[in-house]
Amino acid sequence: MAVKEKESWGTRVGLILAMAGNAVGLGNFLRFPVQAVNNGGGAFIIPYLVCFLLMGIPLLWVEWSMGRFGGRQGNHSTPYILDSMTRRNFWKYFGVFGIFTNIGVAAYYCYIESWTMSYVLHSIMGTFRGLSQTEVADFFTKYVDVAHSTTGIPYEAVIFYILCLALNTYILSRGLKGVERAAKIGMPLLIAFGAFLALRGLTLGTSGASAEVPTASAWDGLNFLWTPQFDSLSNPKVWLAAAGQIFFTLSVGMGTIHCYAAYVRSKDDIALNAVSAGFMNEFVEVVLGSSIVIPIAAGYLGLDWVKENAGFGMAFQTMPFLFEKWGTFLAMMAGVMWFGLLFFAGITSSLAMGTPWMGFMRDEFDWGRKRGAWSFGLIVLLLGLPTVFFFQQGVFDEYDYWAGTVSLVVFALAEVVLFAWILGMDRGWKELNEGADIRVPVVYRYIIKYITPVLLAFVFLGSLFTPLNNDWQGAFDGLLAGNGWSLDNSSIIKQITNAGLYAQLHAATDPVVAEGIRQRIFFANLARGILTATFLGLCLLVFLSARRRAAKAVKA
Ligand code: TRP
Repeated sequence: MAVKEKESWGTRVGLILAMAGNAVGLGNFLRFPVQAVNNGGGAFIIPYLVCFLLMGIPLLWVEWSMGRFGGRQGNHSTPYILDSMTRRNFWKYFGVFGIFTNIGVAAYYCYIESWTMSYVLHSIMGTFRGLSQTEVADFFTKYVDVAHSTTGIPYEAVIFYILCLALNTYILSRGLKGVERAAKIGMPLLIAFGAFLALRGLTLGTSGASAEVPTASAWDGLNFLWTPQFDSLSNPKVWLAAAGQIFFTLSVGMGTIHCYAAYVRSKDDIALNAVSAGFMNEFVEVVLGSSIVIPIAAGYLGLDWVKENAGFGMAFQTMPFLFEKWGTFLAMMAGVMWFGLLFFAGITSSLAMGTPWMGFMRDEFDWGRKRGAWSFGLIVLLLGLPTVFFFQQGVFDEYDYWAGTVSLVVFALAEVVLFAWILGMDRGWKELNEGADIRVPVVYRYIIKYITPVLLAFVFLGSLFTPLNNDWQGAFDGLLAGNGWSLDNSSIIKQITNAGLYAQLHAATDPVVAEGIRQRIFFANLARGILTATFLGLCLLVFLSARRRAAKAVKA
């Protein structure tokens, strides 16, 4: 076997920017505002910040520690990072999550990323000039909808998707240097664009009110997000949403941080780096992420409209229309900045998703960077095309739910138990503090050991057994009264059986509607089949790699 050159990060700034770029993503601008609005605005922020402190920061430290720990022994992906921390064999199969999630998420994430590329071009071309709000919204619907094209292929969407994957693959094939470079260019631009648009959001005030919406006010949007509301603190639904957002936005529970951290030199700081990248992400999310879409939309269309229409469609279906109100030139600039910002946010994250696979294949099967990168691109293409072709049938949402939501919690729970209880907090704490440039507050020793796992277990059980209509009080009362526990259709258990869709199907009287729902059920199962096959395929690779390792050990 050829001796592999050892890869590591070029500079500390590069490392932090790459880690921040990994965390700062579409989630900050598309997911956060929507979650905040749907969970009561100011009611969301407190649980969100608590989750950041009690789950986000601890998990960042755990993952950075695990990553550097594994990297020291030449392991750059979670199966063998986990393996290096324990004597038991099965943990490496848990580590499969840390590759699987990335591939599963990349498949739909790169699709959104490709929309942003196309929308930058359309902003420059002036496609949205003079269109009505409905026409701008329809543009998007047509863009993603197969049924609208005569050939059954949404050409433009497919072409941009492939372009976007090719670009990712190309950068990945340059190794960490490419990733670092992309972060060094993308992050500052993103912040500059974001600051410009946020300034607009923060200064719009009531100047956007019109005859149709006389009460429109950007302040209403900001006040809605920033006036704390304490009554929701006892609502588990809000907590679950907050925890889910913290996971997604910090990229914890995914294996990417481990992978990036595995390339940190073994004596270099991780404690401070981890919080720096984490806080940078929070700044972009909480400050920039909440100062653009919500205030601008509320400033022109009113807060009620925002509450009714919160969804990531807003970014693509509404923003270009609102920008047009700023005059031709500014509209173009705003469009380029907004979609450009989303593009940079997206690509620095999707690059991160490629690295665990590449690290694994390189460590275990001696695949070079080029082969690793191109195989990643190809796998993502195969998994992603169903989301492109059957977007409307919900394949995209299935991927997001299983790979982008449920898996993260499962994996995070497993890794924190492994770190704090199996490797043991004494060793874990020592690892975290090795080379540290800050003194990690001692309370975190206890938080990591007790609080984070307990909270994670709550989040997991809460999502598994979400009670009917999210009524926890009623569910417990019912249980005590001997009436059992009725699950909500949004609970993981009911999702597995498609209970919600079947309920809709039984209620449907119109045969056309029923057919549509039947299709959705079919595609939901198909999407899960694909994801399961991916997971099992990765397990097989881990199994084969273990055999290879064993064979090598015998020879040596
Ligand atoms: N944190 C990113 C965001 O906010 C998403 C992300 C980055 C991610 N890396 C990931 C999601 C790996 C899943 C898996 O958009």
